[in-house]
Amino acid sequence: MNNPEIKKKKNLLFETGRKLALTGTTFGFPTLAYARYVEPNWLDVSHQTVPVDALEGIGQGIKGFKAAFFSDLHLPDKGPASDTLWLAVERALLERPDLALLGGDMFDHGKYNPVMADMVRVLTGAGIPVWGVLGNHDYFGRRGEYLRIMKNLEEVGLKWLVNRAEPFEYRGAQIWLAGIDDFVKGEPDVAETARQIPPGVRPLILLSHNPATIKTLPPDFAHVMLCGHTHGGQINPALPPLNRKLNWVKFRPGSHHYSEFVLGWYTYNGIRLYVGRGLGMSGLKMRFNARPELVMLKFE
Ligand SMILES: [Fe+2]
Repeated sequence: MNNPEIKKKKNLLFETGRKLALTGTTFGFPTLAYARYVEPNWLDVSHQTVPVDALEGIGQGIKGFKAAFFSDLHLPDKGPASDTLWLAVERALLERPDLALLGGDMFDHGKYNPVMADMVRVLTGAGIPVWGVLGNHDYFGRRGEYLRIMKNLEEVGLKWLVNRAEPFEYRGAQIWLAGIDDFVKGEPDVAETARQIPPGVRPLILLSHNPATIKTLPPDFAHVMLCGHTHGGQINPALPPLNRKLNWVKFRPGSHHYSEFVLGWYTYNGIRLYVGRGLGMSGLKMRFNARPELVMLKFE
């Protein structure tokens, strides 16, 4: 036991443990505080562009068309929305988009909170039409609550794209918008959505909450698809570009959160997919290396 070699090894082990504990205390608490109090309030207005020339069958007339994409607001059951959400609305207004799109998970537990209607009213009041789809969390409420959500928001001007396709006029050009219901909790009906689109027309923008939906679509179904759901990992240990690879959303096959499309741009089956990080949080109310994101999509 008194062997000096063993004693040396024990001391080394103790010293390493002490250093690790010290490092954890020094960096652990600030990191937790940052993830809890700083990053969730650190809005990223992310400007994304799509070259019109690369879109087959789309006229030059849509150059300049701009959409604001909000997803994963995760509003509480009652009470006000976070400052980040209101800041996103304010920043969207400043960008003067031609329309606003909601990518689902507006309500954290699927319980209608009238603050969502206030946000829609602010946008429509500024002359910005609002369209949306539901996310899995919007279905978490008591039986039929999602119908109340749909009715209440429709009353303040939100137009639903839940298995729907509709044209939108932009400077004399006709743009088709479409949406598919949530992949996990909804009743996604691609065929019904496709039935509403005239033959030969490819929607410019397709909305669906969960990026996994893209695998259920026929090739070239839409030009651009916008999704949320993954929160960019929400708590994501890896720095770019590895944050698209090393995060828990990507490593949980079998979970309904699992997605090989975690954040940013992808091309799949001829569809340009953008997965936004969303604005709110689910589960642990923290964000790390996945700042809340308001997506400003511009065709140019
Ligand atoms: Fe979400």
